[in-house]
Amino acid sequence: MQKSFIPTAAVIALFSFASNTWAQKSWNAPKLVTIYCSGCHGVDGNTPLPYFPKLAGLDAAYAEKKMTAFREPSGPPVDEALWWALKVMGSKKAAGNVTRQERMNMEGVAHAETPEQIKAAVVWYARQPPAHGHAESGALVMQGKELFDKGIPAQKVLACATCHGPDAAGRGPAPRLAGQNAEYLIDQLEKFSKGDRKHSPEMTMVTRDLDADQARAAAAYLQTR
Ligand code: HEC
Ligand code: HEC
Repeated sequence: MQKSFIPTAAVIALFSFASNTWAQKSWNAPKLVTIYCSGCHGVDGNTPLPYFPKLAGLDAAYAEKKMTAFREPSGPPVDEALWWALKVMGSKKAAGNVTRQERMNMEGVAHAETPEQIKAAVVWYARQPPAHGHAESGALVMQGKELFDKGIPAQKVLACATCHGPDAAGRGPAPRLAGQNAEYLIDQLEKFSKGDRKHSPEMTMVTRDLDADQARAAAAYLQTR
C-alpha cells in the first residue's frame, strides 16, 4: 500500500499551518472530512446513501473506537488475500471488533489519517445536527416501535430503548440509531446475529433470537426517528 500518496498536498499544507491547540485543529475539520469522508458519509454526516451509516450526532468516543479498530489488522484470517496484504504491511495485532466489510470500506481511509485527524473528524460528525428521519407510518414501523420500546419478552429480546435510550439518540457505549439508514441497520443486525461483528456481547445476545422480519421492523422504525 502506497500510503505516501494518500495525504494530498492540500492536507499537508493544512496541517503544517495548524497549531497544536485543539480549537484550531477542530476548526480544520470541515476540510478534513470533505477530503476524507464526505464521498461516503457527507460533509454533514447525513448521507442519503442507504448502505453507508449516517454519522451526524454519533458519539465521538464510539466512532473513534471504531476508527481505531479499522486501523488494526484482523485475525484470525477471514479473508486470505486481505490477511496476506496485512501481513505484508507487517501488522500483527488482532482486532475482532469490526467486520470484514467494514474493514474493506474503512481500512484505507482510517490509515490515511493520523489519530488526531480521526479525532477531529469524529468530533466534527458528533456535533452535526442529525437530519430528521423519513416520516412514515404503517404496520412495519409500528411493529418496530413496539420492539424498540418493549422488546419481545416471549423471545427474551430486551427492549432496544433500555440501552440506546428511549429516543434512540444513543447512551454510553450504545450508539445513536435514530434516523439511521434502514439498510445499514439491517445489515449490522445480521452481522451481529451471524457473529461477524462479535465483539459486542450485548448485541450478540439481543440478535440471537431476533428474526429477519423483526430486524426489518426495528430498522424501519428507527429510520423514521
Ligand atoms: C469509501 C467510502 C467511505 C469513506 C471515504 C469513509 N467511510 Fe466510514 N464507513 C463506510 C462504510 C460503508 C461504513 C459501514 C461499514 C459496514 O459496516 O459495512 C462506514 C463506517 C464508519 C463508521 C462506523 C459507524 C457506526 O455507526 O458504527 C465510522 C465512525 C466512520 N465510518 C467514520 C468515517 C470517517 C471519520 C471517515 C473519514 C475520515 C470515513 N468514515 C470515510 C464508508 C466510508
Ligand atoms: C444491553 C444493551 C443493548 C440492547 C438491549 C440493545 N443494544 Fe444495540 N448496541 C448496544 C451496544 C453497546 C452497541 C455498540 C456495539 C459496538 O461497540 O459496536 C450496540 C450497537 C447497535 C447497532 C450498531 C449501530 C451502528 O451504528 O453500527 C445496532 C444497529 C443496534 N445496536 C440495534 C439494536 C436494536 C434494534 C436493539 C433492540 C432489538 C438493540 N440494539 C438493543 C447495546 C444494546
